[in-house]
Amino acid sequence: MIFYFTGTGNSLYAAKHFDKELYSIPKEMKKESRKYTADRIGIVCPLYEFNLPSLAKDFILTSGFLSYQDHQKCRNALR
Ligand SMILES: Cc1cc2nc3c(=O)[nH]c(=O)nc-3n(C[C@H](O)[C@H](O)[C@H](O)COP(=O)(O)O)c2cc1C
Repeated sequence: MIFYFTGTGNSLYAAKHFDKELYSIPKEMKKESRKYTADRIGIVCPLYEFNLPSLAKDFILTSGFLSYQDHQKCRNALR
């Protein structure tokens, strides 16, 4: 399960190499409740100003990822 955010298509191109199950972060952000369960969850996005795009960062901070053991570490790193 890969979530991607792309402006010009590079991140989508890269995401396709990791998994067939792809989800657009802008589309997912329109959902009120975002809870995902998968053995492996990945996020692919470009770097903007040496940081994650704010939408990708918000997505990580406001979604629930089950069975993804490092999620809390990832959240803490973004704070
Ligand atoms: C506003 C903006 C800021 C960027 N900042 C960085 C950056 O800090 N470091 C970097 O390596 N690339 C930076 N880039 C380049 C993008 O990360 C790169 O073009 C990426 O492949 C775009 O991915 P996308 O096609 O999925 O949108 C920036 C691009 C834009 C538009």
